[in-house]
Amino acid sequence: MPSDDDKVVRPFPFFRAGAQSSGVSRPILVFEDVYKYFRRDRPTLRGVNLTIERGEFAFVTGPSGAGKSTLLQLVYRKHTVDGGRILFCGRDIARLKERSIPFLRRNLGIVFQDFKIVKHWTVFENVAVALEILSMPKRLVRSRVAEALERVGLAGRGEDRTEALSGGEQQRVAVARAIVTEPALILADEPTGNLDPHLAIDILTLFEEINATGTTVLFATHDHSLISKRDHRIIGIDDGRVVEARTGLRSWADAVGPEGGRGTSGSSGLHVVAG
Ligand SMILES: Nc1ncnc2c1ncn2[C@@H]1O[C@H](COP(=O)(O)OP(=O)(O)OP(=O)(O)O)[C@@H](O)[C@H]1O
Ligand SMILES: [Mg+2]
Repeated sequence: MPSDDDKVVRPFPFFRAGAQSSGVSRPILVFEDVYKYFRRDRPTLRGVNLTIERGEFAFVTGPSGAGKSTLLQLVYRKHTVDGGRILFCGRDIARLKERSIPFLRRNLGIVFQDFKIVKHWTVFENVAVALEILSMPKRLVRSRVAEALERVGLAGRGEDRTEALSGGEQQRVAVARAIVTEPALILADEPTGNLDPHLAIDILTLFEEINATGTTVLFATHDHSLISKRDHRIIGIDDGRVVEARTGLRSWADAVGPEGGRGTSGSSGLHVVAG
């Protein structure tokens, strides 16, 4: 007799974070010389090379218009690359047929600055929708949603109407919806952009807790006060190129110059990865 768990739709198991049949660990995400042109004369991303290992937490930062959102949008195939390749769990995203894109997205949790939740739905409905589109049995949906709400600190709030929640709580609903499918990779695009600094730290901490359970997190933000509180890897984007540091804002600021420079600290693990 198959259990409810067996009935969960898990197409493309090779996308899943845990699946490692060969025993060789493969990075979860690789950008190989990626170019994206929205305008003919000027690429938004130019020659981006980047490897994200499973289980990493990385900030994506840079000035407005630098290409942070574009970088994330290429991963969930909102756009396709114009040059180079993006490999997710070893698979070339650009080669996925239209009909396979939903399968890709089932393995991604996406969180936006403006939450993108349905305000007149209940908290439960907003989270459950991510599982209902997978045709998951109702009983399992209930238990998985309850578990996700507990993880984001909203246990017992399922029946509340979402519009009655505070901004920070609404973002927690969006995070619960992103994690309820147990995605391999979370893409968070300025998830704290609409929150005050105190709530921003709470939400950052929430993503770190999710990361601690093995989920890879890419967290795009231009908020240096947030980045400076942590020592995560920083993927800095400037003028479509990537400059990265593995050890937090200090070493990154040293490398990008006058804005941040407070004396150098040697090579600090930092290198320009696009040319
Ligand atoms: N769909 C699109 N069509 C045309 N141009 C676009 C599109 N999306 C992004 N761009 C352009 O690409 C560049 C990078 O935009 P992107 O949204 O990735 O920047 P960002 O770093 O996320 O900025 P912000 O901090 O303001 O969110 C901008 O010049 C933007 O105008
Ligand atoms: Mg953006």
